[in-house]
Amino acid sequence: MSDDTSMNETPTIETHTEAKSTDDRSPASEADADVAGMDDQSIGEETVIEARDLSVFYGDERALQPVNVEIPDRQVTAIIGPSGCGKSTFLRSINRMNDMIDVARVDGELLFRDTNVYGEAVDPVALRRAIGMVFQKPNPFPKSIYDNVAYGLRIQGKDDDLDEQVESALRRAALWDEVSDRLGESALDMSGGQQQRLCIARAIAPDPEVILMDEPASALDPVATSQIEDLIEELARDYTVVIVTHNMQQAARISDKTMVFLTGGELVEFGDTSRIFENPDNQRVEDYITGKFG
Ligand SMILES: Nc1ncnc2c1ncn2[C@@H]1O[C@H](COP(=O)(O)OP(=O)(O)OP(=O)(O)O)[C@@H](O)[C@H]1O
Ligand SMILES: [Mg+2]
Repeated sequence: MSDDTSMNETPTIETHTEAKSTDDRSPASEADADVAGMDDQSIGEETVIEARDLSVFYGDERALQPVNVEIPDRQVTAIIGPSGCGKSTFLRSINRMNDMIDVARVDGELLFRDTNVYGEAVDPVALRRAIGMVFQKPNPFPKSIYDNVAYGLRIQGKDDDLDEQVESALRRAALWDEVSDRLGESALDMSGGQQQRLCIARAIAPDPEVILMDEPASALDPVATSQIEDLIEELARDYTVVIVTHNMQQAARISDKTMVFLTGGELVEFGDTSRIFENPDNQRVEDYITGKFG
């Protein structure tokens, strides 16, 4: 698994969607079956994030054409596309990280469980606990391993069973066995792959519903990349994962749904990963996936 992470050759892409067990997912109600705007196997899937004519501008420059998409609960949705096409912009719009960029302006609606996250009543800090984020470069705090994971819990005053909660988050991030005897050591002394799993543990400790990841493995070696990929598939049992990746084999391996953005900030295609990679509707998507451009 770790020897084919290069995306430079024209990929023979195998998708995992068919093999994935959905047994442990809670059954959706009848009403949830009515999810307009989603193609492929959308029946029975519950939507957790929905964009309605969502546009993002930086100053006068439009970075995203109006995006309409419904992202299903407890699956992995991959976002792919060439550099500068708006992948990070879209990802950041989901938990209002674009608020941090002065010139950024958002138009349209982004619904998280039917609440428009750009509504006046929404507290962006609380939103980001429910929709956590992991970045390309691991960014642990210059604190101990334990304090990194405990950080969000302490802020929320959820520090009753702190030891158990820290252990649980580290276990869910597949890191516990490697760090259980060195929790007091600095997070900065860990390897890059361990630091990234620590950042994942930090993001899941406050028990979010959604985890956004922007190229979380692109700074890691193949072994650490493979560990992160395994972890992402595991996390999707409990969380909705939305991941930007430049690595198309990675998208094909780990995601259930794929969004393809192309130059100009246009969401050109969205659907089941297996179909997008094997039989895309759009010729430009096919050209991109087969490496003819991008
Ligand atoms: N902070 C910013 N200020 C101004 N323009 C920005 C800012 N961030 C992104 N942009 C512009 O918005 C467009 C989309 O950028 P974005 O970073 O979302 O692309 P991306 O698909 O994530 O690219 P990459 O694959 O290189 O990470 C680009 O034209 C970029 O120059
Ligand atoms: Mg980006």
